[in-house]
Amino acid sequence: MRGKDVRLDQVAIRFGGSTAVHPTSLAIEAGEFFSILGPSGCGKTTILRAISGFIEPSEGRVLLGGEDMAGKGPNERPTALIFQNLALFPLMSVAENVAFGLEARGVGRRERLARAEELLDLVALGGFGGKKPADLSGGQRQRVAIARALAVEPSVLLLDEPLSALDLKLRQHMRTELRAIQKRVGITFIYITHDQGEALAMSDRVAVMSRGRIEQVAAADTIYADPATPFVSTFVGEQNVLPGTLVSLAKDEATVDTPVGRVTGRAKGDLAPGAAVLVMVRPERMALDGRRENSLTARLTARHLEGASVNLDFEAKGRRFLVVMPNGPAARDIPDEVTLSFGRTDALVYAEGPLANG
Ligand SMILES: Nc1ncnc2c1ncn2[C@@H]1O[C@H](COP(=O)(O)OP(=O)(O)OP(=O)(O)O)[C@@H](O)[C@H]1O
Ligand SMILES: [Mg+2]
Repeated sequence: MRGKDVRLDQVAIRFGGSTAVHPTSLAIEAGEFFSILGPSGCGKTTILRAISGFIEPSEGRVLLGGEDMAGKGPNERPTALIFQNLALFPLMSVAENVAFGLEARGVGRRERLARAEELLDLVALGGFGGKKPADLSGGQRQRVAIARALAVEPSVLLLDEPLSALDLKLRQHMRTELRAIQKRVGITFIYITHDQGEALAMSDRVAVMSRGRIEQVAAADTIYADPATPFVSTFVGEQNVLPGTLVSLAKDEATVDTPVGRVTGRAKGDLAPGAAVLVMVRPERMALDGRRENSLTARLTARHLEGASVNLDFEAKGRRFLVVMPNGPAARDIPDEVTLSFGRTDALVYAEGPLANG
């Protein structure tokens, strides 16, 4: 199987008077594991349906392998789609389920079942062909659905929250499985989820969406370490958010007045003195000493043991600060009042904008 590249060229999608997807351009490489991450209702499924041909964009073009897909239905496109609800046929055997799409394509029974056996091997279910879906675990059924989707030899596999029905442990196990299957088949995977852990763990690149717009496309590490907007910053991982006013800017070093005093950080995007800004610091970047450039006095209000790490809640000037540190002796005896500090490269300064969850 060969992957194809996927391009959206100024694709907009409206339903009646409301816009589900604002004009969006995106280039996904052949063979890439690409995730689209965003909260419920932001337009993820709508984009996937436009790629697979279940809806036509109101504006713009979808190109697969360089070819414009306008007017082509789902069966005329080199894509296959896996839904959250897998919809395996309960009365058919696992092998018949996998071979189902081949029958419609006129492939003979013997060849169909041989192909099904190969695909079951590919998803590590060799020998399971004779069973019924009900006799399999949730994760095994998931892999049958993947084998069934791969049977028609798509160049692009579209996965719409396929793990959401599984319990946490299985979901985490399936992340590794899915990534391994994708590497083996080498085709393009476009994976949709509102679970940041899934997106960050599996993907070559992640697009973060909010309200019908893609806010950032980048490698998972970049999304976490250098988020482009306040929304991405707070949707992916935890953040300490400090509102303030920009005092001055020297190159990309921003000085900001905040409720806990003057702090310096790295400016993101265009900022002008006097602008309302948000300073963001990751909880693991806050130190329990005064040694970094920006410091404040805070009072411990709660301590939550997470296992390998400890979450510490502090209060300063009526604001809450979260500090995450590795579990160990230093995390046990925290005085009630401490000096917290963070470096100027640990603080990112954004123009005020919408956050995730309000
Ligand atoms: N067929 C439709 N007719 C009218 N509005 C629609 C239709 N499909 C989707 N929408 C609207 O478009 C917006 C985006 O929906 P979409 O299903 O793409 O969200 P999503 O990101 O997949 O969310 P979830 O994570 O809940 O699945 C929503 O406001 C939804 O109500
Ligand atoms: Mg959806």
